[in-house]
Amino acid sequence: VSTATAVRFRDLLSQRASIGPAARLASGVQTPLYDFSGGRPDPAGYPYAALIEATARVMEAEGADALTYGDPLGYAGLRDLVCQKYRLYEGLDVRRDNVIVANGSGHALSLAISSFVDVGDALICEAPTFGGTLNAIRRHGADILDVPVDDDGIDTGAVQRRLEALAREGRRCKLIYTQVNFHNPAGPTMSLRRRKRLIELAQAHETLILEDDAYGDLRFEGDPLPSLYALDDGACVIRAGTLSKILGPGVRLGWLCAPEPMIPFLQGFNFSGGVSPFASRVAVYFLRDHMTEHVAMLSELYRSKRDAMLRGLAALLQGTDATVSRPEGGFFLWLKLPAGTDCSKLAQLAEAASVRYVPGAVCYPNGGGDEYIRLAFSYEPAERCEAGGRLLAAAIRAARA
Ligand SMILES: Cc1ncc(COP(=O)(O)O)c(C=O)c1O
Repeated sequence: VSTATAVRFRDLLSQRASIGPAARLASGVQTPLYDFSGGRPDPAGYPYAALIEATARVMEAEGADALTYGDPLGYAGLRDLVCQKYRLYEGLDVRRDNVIVANGSGHALSLAISSFVDVGDALICEAPTFGGTLNAIRRHGADILDVPVDDDGIDTGAVQRRLEALAREGRRCKLIYTQVNFHNPAGPTMSLRRRKRLIELAQAHETLILEDDAYGDLRFEGDPLPSLYALDDGACVIRAGTLSKILGPGVRLGWLCAPEPMIPFLQGFNFSGGVSPFASRVAVYFLRDHMTEHVAMLSELYRSKRDAMLRGLAALLQGTDATVSRPEGGFFLWLKLPAGTDCSKLAQLAEAASVRYVPGAVCYPNGGGDEYIRLAFSYEPAERCEAGGRLLAAAIRAARA
């Protein structure tokens, strides 16, 4: 029965349904010993007992409200917490009316893309970039104009050239999608000069910036820089944030912070009833009391994993021309393979060593990236980050032609 059903539903799929990882997921894959692939938080960092306690307090204080439909823009307490978080960590003043809650920041980004991008519309995007957003952008049929990323973040000279070329064709870019802190996958944090320049360009060319800041709370070193949203003063930046990396992706809570007139359009892509009023309350009851120390604990946890993986890799990559990023925060290392590495041989050797990574090519909108791999140090314990890093480095050495 299942085969017959599958064949029939597959015949009906839209063209956009086959874009992205759906086919790969359907094939079924085994769990590796060292999983450095997805950007998953470490289960050891989840605040189990404190969430049980927060849930009990929610039920006592507002059980009926928590279990019914909520505000279409999301639980006001969570939107207030986002404002409080921005004030506390960034000195940024945002009002509750600028914030809409979504089912994680992936969904939040989709709300923005759906609100502005039609098939064939021009969208500027970093190469490399986060593959999840890339799939959402592709499914909207955007004309993706890629620009490089270097140690200072997005190459604003390349953005300028893209915008000027579009203007000559009489076209306007709809969105510039960018990550400002601890870029996934490449690692850099955008410099202040680039941040200001990007905003100047967006304003001059009357386009919007979609600022993705999924990892900004998890800073291991260095001083935070003002967000694009803060620098722009409410003109052209839509900013996405998430609780996935500091609380747990299972709560599925993220948000967009946007100029107020845009909020009803973004909201239009949500069913009414608000996103997860119950989980929002539990998250708020926990974070209201514990955010600062919890985020500090996580930053320390992930810093030690980054360092462990760097140690493991360096032990065996020394003497090769491989380069490895050293991000100031976040979840990922970006590794440029030594010249002459045979990528399919590396894939086989890594699988034999039970190490999983993400091939760089999936992070590139328009091809390229075969010489890179992305390694998430977030999920495995520090000692496994080091041991798995060594095994992978040995595989990389052996995969050179
Ligand atoms: C850069 C970036 N943006 C957005 C997301 C989406 O995360 P979530 O939907 O869990 O908030 C991720 C998840 O890995 C990410 O790496």
